[in-house]
Amino acid sequence: MSIILAIESSCDDTSAAVMREGILISNCIANQSIHAAYGGVVPELASRAHQQNIIPVVDEALKQAKVSKNELTAIAVTQGPGLLGALLVGNSFAKSMASALEIPLIAVNHMEAHVLAHFIEEPYPKFPFLCLTVSGGHTQIVKVDDFNKMEVIGETRDDAVGEAFDKTAKMLGLPYPGGPLIDRYAKLGNPEAYSFPIADIPALDYSFSGIKTAVLYFLQREEKKNPNFVEDHLNDICASVQKNLIDSLLQKLVKASKQYKVREIAIAGGVSANSGLRGELERVKTKYKWNVHVPAFEYCTDNAAMIAKAAYYLNQAGVYASVYTSPDPSKRF
Ligand code: KG4
Ligand code: ZN
Repeated sequence: MSIILAIESSCDDTSAAVMREGILISNCIANQSIHAAYGGVVPELASRAHQQNIIPVVDEALKQAKVSKNELTAIAVTQGPGLLGALLVGNSFAKSMASALEIPLIAVNHMEAHVLAHFIEEPYPKFPFLCLTVSGGHTQIVKVDDFNKMEVIGETRDDAVGEAFDKTAKMLGLPYPGGPLIDRYAKLGNPEAYSFPIADIPALDYSFSGIKTAVLYFLQREEKKNPNFVEDHLNDICASVQKNLIDSLLQKLVKASKQYKVREIAIAGGVSANSGLRGELERVKTKYKWNVHVPAFEYCTDNAAMIAKAAYYLNQAGVYASVYTSPDPSKRF
């Protein structure tokens, strides 16, 4: 019987979850609102907030699960990728707790965990499947052959798509994180109102740095004619930018599906909460004969439940970390 406590602290959410034999029994998250005032995550502030949050969040996760720390069989933690200072808080805490309780430590890759979030609740995707992992720091197409066997077959060469959402939102005067706000205003706007170019990148890779420059020049041009342009056309701008980002994501996903002859398609990461992306997948799935898997909202953005699930499979495979393990801010698969 495995009872795993998992800790996630890679960016701006402190989260702890408890999983018994692969079944999630608690998942608590403390969000950090402090960054909104700065238009982006301030790493040093994130580390300090993690330090303040980690004990109450872990306590709450154990309490909600009705599990005492002496019943735990392993502690899991996000080793990376993520912000070094933020990861250090979770890793130091997890290592100390595992040593004190004399139980194994499991080091989890945050991006693999986003993919494995699909196995928190049924129906599970079937192997092999393609997972479009879209977050604030990453944009990847991952070919998933098994729980512990996955490969990145395409990724962004510069900004992540979440960054493109957040940076566009910032230009429009919206607070951080702007992705969910663009999503909200886009629902009220016309996606065909304005058009922006899609970067022509070889193979299955992406580029999202050009769109922010395109939007910046577009806004400068329009604001010369009408200083209230953003205010007057916010919904249409959001809808048009969102359409551009979704079209770009789907172009390569379609290409990957054809190239690898895989029609089992999943999306993961914070941007997979986007209603436009979800709607578009729903719309095109019959055309491409795709079986589409979209995680529940709470498992799209950063959470410890996905870390617990990834740890559950590592535990089954007997893969443990030493107490000398360090966080790895640029951890790869
Ligand atoms: O996976 P995540 O919580 O953290 C990282 O690992 O980065 O992803 C956060 C990103 C942010 O860029 C945020 O703006 C974006 O996900 N996001 C969204 C939506 N919800 C979160 N972007 C577009 N539409 C949304 N509904
Ligand atoms: Zn993430």
